[in-house]
Amino acid sequence: MTDRTVLPGHPHIARIAGDLHVEGVPLQSLAREHGTPLFVYSKQWMLDALNAYRRGFEGRDAWVCYAIKANSSLGILRVFAEAGCGFDIVSGGELTRVLASGANPAKVIFSGVGKTRAEMKQALLANIGCFNVESEAEIDVLNAVALELGRRAPISVRINPNVDPKTHPYISTGLKGNKFGVAHDRAVPVYRHAASLPGLEVIGIDCHIGSQITASAPYLEALERVLDLVEAIEAAGIRLHHIDFGGGLGIDYNGETPPHADALWKLLLARLDIRGYGDRRLIVEPGRSLVGNAGVCVTEVLYTKPGEDKNFCIVDAAMNDLPRPAMYQAYHQIVPVAEKNGAPTTCDVVGPVCESGDWIGRDRALNVTAGDLLAVLSAGAYSMSMASNYNSRGRAAEVLVDGTRAHVIRRRESIEDQLRNEQFGT
Ligand code: LLP
Repeated sequence: MTDRTVLPGHPHIARIAGDLHVEGVPLQSLAREHGTPLFVYSKQWMLDALNAYRRGFEGRDAWVCYAIKANSSLGILRVFAEAGCGFDIVSGGELTRVLASGANPAKVIFSGVGKTRAEMKQALLANIGCFNVESEAEIDVLNAVALELGRRAPISVRINPNVDPKTHPYISTGLKGNKFGVAHDRAVPVYRHAASLPGLEVIGIDCHIGSQITASAPYLEALERVLDLVEAIEAAGIRLHHIDFGGGLGIDYNGETPPHADALWKLLLARLDIRGYGDRRLIVEPGRSLVGNAGVCVTEVLYTKPGEDKNFCIVDAAMNDLPRPAMYQAYHQIVPVAEKNGAPTTCDVVGPVCESGDWIGRDRALNVTAGDLLAVLSAGAYSMSMASNYNSRGRAAEVLVDGTRAHVIRRRESIEDQLRNEQFGT
């Protein structure tokens, strides 16, 4: 029997005879064939994550709208479009992507604090399902754009419930001091105003309190605050057909234990029923929890560099590929692709970019030499979608694994790709 060990917390990644596999495909051979840095995703992990939400919503009218900012590669979007998912977008570019993936526009919702008139127009013409509007000023502009087109824009207002999601400050969004949503106290007058405008059709209410949330309590707190508003808004004669609770459910990067989507939703639905709103359509906008642990980034060790204070392991992936450590001091596990005997040393895993902030992992125990491959785990969300060309580095290639088959869903970006839109000014 072949020796197979599943990585804890990563059911679709296993070590088989010493070599790391995503589903049935060895990372060694993918790296050999496609080069590094290389993102590799498990299709099954994504579908399992989606099914956890669907189990939680069984028997309910509920839409899971994948927040594509987490990973907007077309090959990933196609997986969710084929599974009948809705989508949460925040730009005209994202709208073009979801439509290209074959999504049903009626299940597309458009979030974000700064939609332009051109983006509103594009979305109205595509007949998207809902605009989540975030300010009084935006309500008036959307009304005007809709009237110009002879349409009515379906809207929900994103309210800011002033709840602390207890996550990194950069990814908390539902606190008073954040730029997002309409203040709880302003919600009723804002809804009255929106309902009076001929270019708008009020259909729902929306909130999103933050990202990488690892407890149920902030959701329960936000739910009560939102339902208080539903009550007040409906008392003012405005019917709300759906309630959108946003995204934000966290994943296990390094031993965190966020609630499973099905368990969380059973809890929230019980509260919703008690308060008499269990019949409303529910919308969620998960991003990270649908893709985060589906992906790994395979990178090659270029050099090892012993230092006076620290040892460095310099790899060919960098902050332009994996920006989360530099931006949020985020932790990603880093494991060798091929098992190796020998004692580990403590080192910082860093990229080639000319910034001290270009680190991927600090103080990691690894036994590495140049030429070895490492896998950076939990790289499915907010890595490729936030990748840049800093230091004129081309963006990595991406592969989607489906069982024993591997499909390239993005070829490696060449320098020609990077130079294409540039010209000399004179
Ligand atoms: N809906 C709205 C309105 C959002 O702003 C976001 C994320 C989501 C849904 C999806 O949240 P998720 O389920 O993925 O937590 N770059 C950061 C995360 C930024 C999240 C921004 N908004 C990171 O790498 O941790």
